[in-house]
Amino acid sequence: MTLWQGRFGEAGPAEELLRYTVSLHYDSRLAGDDIAGSKAHVRGLVAAGIVTEPDGAILQAALDRVAAELADGTLVFKAGDEDIHTVVERRVTELAGATGARLHTGRSRNDQVATDLRLYAKRELRVVAGRLLELQRVLSARAQQAGDAYLPGYTHLQRAQPVLLAHHLLAHGWAFGRDIDRLEDARTRLDVSPLGAGALAGSSLALDPRLTARELGFARPFENSLDAVSDRDFVAEALFALTLAGIHLSRLGEEIVIWSTDEFAFVTLDDAYATGSSMLPQKKNPDIAELARGRAGRLIGDLTGLLATLKGLPLSYNRDLQEDKEPLFDAVDQLAAGVTAMTGMLATATFNLERMQAAADTPFAAAVDLAEWLVEQGMPFRDAHAVVGGLVRDALERRVPLRELVEAHPALGGEAVALLEPGVAVTRRTTRGGAGPEAVAAQLKRFEELLADTAARLGPG
Ligand code: ARG
Repeated sequence: MTLWQGRFGEAGPAEELLRYTVSLHYDSRLAGDDIAGSKAHVRGLVAAGIVTEPDGAILQAALDRVAAELADGTLVFKAGDEDIHTVVERRVTELAGATGARLHTGRSRNDQVATDLRLYAKRELRVVAGRLLELQRVLSARAQQAGDAYLPGYTHLQRAQPVLLAHHLLAHGWAFGRDIDRLEDARTRLDVSPLGAGALAGSSLALDPRLTARELGFARPFENSLDAVSDRDFVAEALFALTLAGIHLSRLGEEIVIWSTDEFAFVTLDDAYATGSSMLPQKKNPDIAELARGRAGRLIGDLTGLLATLKGLPLSYNRDLQEDKEPLFDAVDQLAAGVTAMTGMLATATFNLERMQAAADTPFAAAVDLAEWLVEQGMPFRDAHAVVGGLVRDALERRVPLRELVEAHPALGGEAVALLEPGVAVTRRTTRGGAGPEAVAAQLKRFEELLADTAARLGPG
């Protein structure tokens, strides 16, 4: 049986049509949202006097029963069940007979599916934001544990200036904070109920979209029925926010990959969060970090695929829009799992502080400190830069230690040599947001405040 049998001949749809158009294997995860939407719709029908109170009660009971059957796995899908909306309505009709046939009054799968997917997105984006908050908490805890340990900061992947490990870890933490903001922002904008738009034009029946919007906990109802059934901006925005978070996770993953090489050896992963090789007994591989990097590519695919699906669509609903769900589900699943895996990996990793500090303790890392010391003595920075640059070149060409040249230089001398001592340079990064101990302690406080704010904003769960 199809939902449109009246208009069509006896033979029924072709096998190929069903096989090609079916979406039940993925949209069944909207079952709970579909039932919530249907229950709200029934209340709207009763409030409008279109369905009697007793019939409304029968429909509500049937919907509860369908929910229970879906939960305990006793609802068996049938060959003709095209999507989850078909399944729910079919089963309600089986359970409630003639009354069941009143469920779809004044409603279309077009407003129904848009409602379901908004309910899903509203819930799941919050879940992902909560996972990102957990990751931020681990970054903050690891930053606190790291104390005043430092490592080389890099530009162009060349050693540039020493920075506290805490500073480096928090740099990732702030990026994930912006991701949470974007997810929350997308949630606010998607908080619109499309229910009541019908197929595209609203209804001749006395249905009130405001009532069902309220029932479903949406902030507001749609303003335009055509827009309501064809708008997938919320999917695109959610995908962008998820994808950018995935890209941040990928960049963090890339650093873990680099740091865990024998060449860097800045980090040792816990055995539980690393993999071995089927052939090479000595190997220990950072697969979680690599997959975080790799799956970012897949998230970009989810986003660009959806954008391409939308770009040529005329108003209003087109079946193409069925292609909105898989990318969104995939992005939510992949990111949530990736964030959790990376969180566990970071929580259990060992940072090899001695290696990091030894790498940062090359005298050249203090070159700019020497130049700035000269600036404090009154020399223009350009000149100071040239003086220190000359010493570095000399040290490299003649293979003499920089400290000897600094000591012998008339403008520098013994006081300046102290800047080359291990661990001194990093302490001199004192400006707000800078990489030294004092500035990072203040930053850590602000980061903890952000986490407390975020936790309050996201609420329990
Ligand atoms: N499974 C469809 C979707 O996801 C439901 C809407 C179908 N509407 C229609 N007019 N065929 O978009």
